Order: sequence, then C-alpha cells, then structure tokens
Amino acid sequence: MKIALNNLDEEDLEVQSFIKFKSKKHKLTGKQSISQLVSRAENYADPDAKFENPDLNELSRMGFLDELISGIKTGKEASVFLGKNSTGFVAVKIYTDLRVRSFKRDASYREGRFIGDARIQKAIEQGSQAGLNAHQILWVQEEFKQMQHLYQYGVQVPKAIAVNGISLVMEFIGDEYGNPSPRISDLKMEKDEAEEAFRQSVQNLKLIVRSGKVHGDYSTFNILWHNGKAVVIDFPQVIEFKNNPNANVFLERDVNSLCKSFMKQGVKADEAKIFREVRAG
Ligand SMILES: Nc1ncnc2c1ncn2[C@@H]1O[C@H](COP(=O)(O)OP(=O)(O)OP(=O)(O)O)[C@@H](O)[C@H]1O
Ligand SMILES: [Mg+2]
Repeated sequence: MKIALNNLDEEDLEVQSFIKFKSKKHKLTGKQSISQLVSRAENYADPDAKFENPDLNELSRMGFLDELISGIKTGKEASVFLGKNSTGFVAVKIYTDLRVRSFKRDASYREGRFIGDARIQKAIEQGSQAGLNAHQILWVQEEFKQMQHLYQYGVQVPKAIAVNGISLVMEFIGDEYGNPSPRISDLKMEKDEAEEAFRQSVQNLKLIVRSGKVHGDYSTFNILWHNGKAVVIDFPQVIEFKNNPNANVFLERDVNSLCKSFMKQGVKADEAKIFREVRAG
C-alpha cells in the first residue's frame, strides 16, 4: 500500500502501521511513567547515563535536563513532565509513539507541509519503519520550530529550549514550587478575569496570524492562565498561510472553538466579528 503524502487516508495509515508493528515485533513506547524513563537497565553501556530513555540522556549530556521530577499531564498525543536543569524548572514533552497515537492530526494537517529531505519523504511514502520514525521526529521538530517562530513574533508561548528525538524541553509555566499553571478550561473565572483572558487570547491569535500561521487547535484547552497572562501551548499542528490553501478554514475553526470554549466562562463573543478582526491583523 502506497501512502500519498498530501492525501493520507487515516485508516489506511493506521492499519498499515499496526501491521508493520506486529510483523517487526517492535517494542511500543506509548505512555511511559517516570520510573520507566529514568530507571537504567543494569547492563546499560554508558555508566554516566542518567536516564533509560536515550533522547533524555542526550538532552542531559547537552545540559538541558538534569532530573525528571513528576508528571504534569498524560494525553493521547504526548506526556508532559516537570523537569529540572541548572537554570531551574523546565517542562518536558515526550511524544507517544506514532504507532500507538491517533493519526487524526497528522493526516488532516499534512497538506502543504514542506518536508525538506527527499529521502525522508520517500521513506514516509513507503510506510517503512525508518519513515515512521523520521515522520515522528519531524512532527516534534515542527513543534519546536513553530514555538521559536511564535516566540520571536511576541506571542505568549513557553520558550522552546531544546529538542531531541521525540522529546522537547521548554520553559515551565508555573510557580516556584513546580505547580503548573492551570489551563483556562480548568478554571471557573469571574466575569472580569474571563473577559481579560479572552481579550489576551484574541490578541495572541492576531499575533499568530500576523506571523503567517494558524494554531490549528486553539481553545481554552491549549491556553494556560499564568499570573494573569494567557500563555498558548501545543503547536505540532501549526499551519502556514503560505503553504496551506485551507489556512483560512482552519483559522475560522480556531476562532469558533476559542469563542465556544470561552462561552463556558460566561464570555459572549461574535465569532464572525472576531474572525474579521483577527484576519485584519
Ligand atoms: N510549558 C508548560 N508548562 C506547564 N505545563 C505545561 C506546559 N506545556 C504543557 N503543559 C501541560 O501539559 C498538558 C499537555 O500539553 P499539550 O497540550 O502540549 O499536549 P497534548 O499532547 O495536546 O495533550 P492533550 O491531548 O492533553 O492536549 C497541557 O494541557 C498543560 O496542562
Ligand atoms: Mg493540548
């Protein structure tokens, strides 16, 4: 079965990857606990290694991560952990293995994404193991790249610190004791606070659009409320206006899900008006 990059059939890809997985007897690395990530096998070749997980070891050798302290949240796509390095707390996002993840987001957002290395593209098209691994790494690198881009454009996002394999280290959004800031969706805000959070969320969306992008999954589930500031997270599916003919459709969907999710906070907004406002920059 051949996989066309710009016209992926989610189900085909999912079935195909599971067949591959079964036939090759690969070990799945879905959700992992801290002990799985940290505990070192007894015969581990490198005596200086801090972690069982090779991505984390590399990040540790480069000085970006000294310790994993606790889990912040385990989702379908990734798990986020509280970590530490010499500068203080960091957040570590570790992706779930592509083969146990849903392919929904990969497939629907692929269109228009540039894959620079022809060999990687070929491997992905052939659905080979190397291709799937490469694909997964690209996905994580994409998130890192988009975070850096948005940060430069003044969007309130965590600062991207380092990426290796399927693990990403970023600024921890939380307090000095290591408690992460809540998502807006986790709160029941007072009217004034909710309106301020909405205003900032629209402002962030404007800046994202001004920088040539669409978030692609924009709602109070991906916005943290940190000391009175709305901080946007979760970027692997970011879309570029210049590459994606459907960017405006995705933007409209982002505006709608933002407004809907803020209705739960008692904020009433005119979706069409917000869309025009955001589109005008
Ligand atoms: N930099 C950060 N600082 C503090 N907490 C964070 C940070 N990044 C992510 N989190 C927490 O981890 C959760 C999951 O992160 P993210 O949304 O990026 O991953 P996800 O794969 O989309 O997970 P989900 O499916 O739960 O949305 C967030 O909802 C948030 O609570
Ligand atoms: Mg999320």
